[in-house]
Amino acid sequence: MAAAVLQLSGLTKSFGGKSVLHGIDLEIADGEFVSLLGPSGCGKTTILRLVAGFEAPDAGTVRLDGVDVGPLPANRRAVNTVFQSYALFPHLTVADNVAFGLRMHRVPATEAARRVDEALAMVQLDGYGSRRPHQLSGGQQQRVALARAVVNRPRVLLLDECLNALDHQLRLDMEVELKQLQRRLGIAFLFVTHDQEEALSMSDRVAVMEHGRIEQLGTPRQVYESPRTRFVAGFVGEANILPARVTALAGPGRVVVDLAGSACELQTDLELAVGATVQVVLRPEDLRLTEVGPEQQPEGCLLGRVVERIYKGRTLDTVVELAAGPRLKVSEFFDEDDPALDHPAGARVAASWVRGWEVVLADG
Ligand SMILES: Nc1ncnc2c1ncn2[C@@H]1O[C@H](COP(=O)(O)OP(=O)(O)OP(=O)(O)O)[C@@H](O)[C@H]1O
Ligand SMILES: [Mg+2]
Repeated sequence: MAAAVLQLSGLTKSFGGKSVLHGIDLEIADGEFVSLLGPSGCGKTTILRLVAGFEAPDAGTVRLDGVDVGPLPANRRAVNTVFQSYALFPHLTVADNVAFGLRMHRVPATEAARRVDEALAMVQLDGYGSRRPHQLSGGQQQRVALARAVVNRPRVLLLDECLNALDHQLRLDMEVELKQLQRRLGIAFLFVTHDQEEALSMSDRVAVMEHGRIEQLGTPRQVYESPRTRFVAGFVGEANILPARVTALAGPGRVVVDLAGSACELQTDLELAVGATVQVVLRPEDLRLTEVGPEQQPEGCLLGRVVERIYKGRTLDTVVELAAGPRLKVSEFFDEDDPALDHPAGARVAASWVRGWEVVLADG
């Protein structure tokens, strides 16, 4: 990994006696794109504010390029923040909005003008310098906010839910643009979001947070395919999480469990004894349904009845009530010419999956 540009160690913070961050450790490499992903109130913005210097931690340090920036005020730290609200100055032109930070740092006018042009070109807004924010679309305002931040050549750009105000299509376009911009600039991005797709699609690594802690830090594939906790499995993507009990050991890395009344052989790195209880994570898109007759008991499958069919355009989602009680969500690619996908409500079905695609979590 490249040298760390940002190092957070042991950051804690409480407000009015309520602890909101419990020892955050995170290192971001130069030029890396890292997302903080978690539900509302888990402490994402608080982390950004500690890095930016808008708040001081109760304990722990923030290092930029190896230097503890604790003693430095916000305007002396080589970071810039892009907020959800954009926070553009309505009475200033686009160019003056972008030049604002340069003026504060007394950058000479000719150099400032050149850097503003460069920054506007970077976000594809050449020629928009004399407009005012209200003469721009939401997506364009978002780009001005980005230009205003990158013009200062920060070491780390902090972005707080900055795509939320955009409509769905524009948001998807901006995800691609933002990732490309980040590559061109080579600046590290610390991006806050509660949208898992946004985090997965743009990040080199994702820190999944809950209640002021980082639950798991890894590449998008690691957090999606190998969640380490029930929370991560359920928050990053959709997941069926079913309780199971180990009934036999089946060799290295393999156990047989009783899963919703069926005997299933599963792969796991966990050291498990017979009788141990576990949670089994099955992604809806990893499951396939086949209709079965009343007497059939196919091995290693989960048996149940179709209770709901939801047409989603690209996928056909099915809710299955398992004979043993819990419900299972299955998501299959929709193909109107495939009769095998046609399971009416009430049909008896078996859900199967490729062995090894399940994730086994220790209980508790
Ligand atoms: N200045 C403050 N004074 C008191 N409590 C605060 C302050 N700032 C944040 N909090 C509390 O700290 C917790 C974490 O807030 P934070 O804004 O970091 O969450 P978040 O993960 O960014 O949430 P969201 O996704 O809703 O923006 C919340 O319970 C919040 O109410
Ligand atoms: Mg927030």
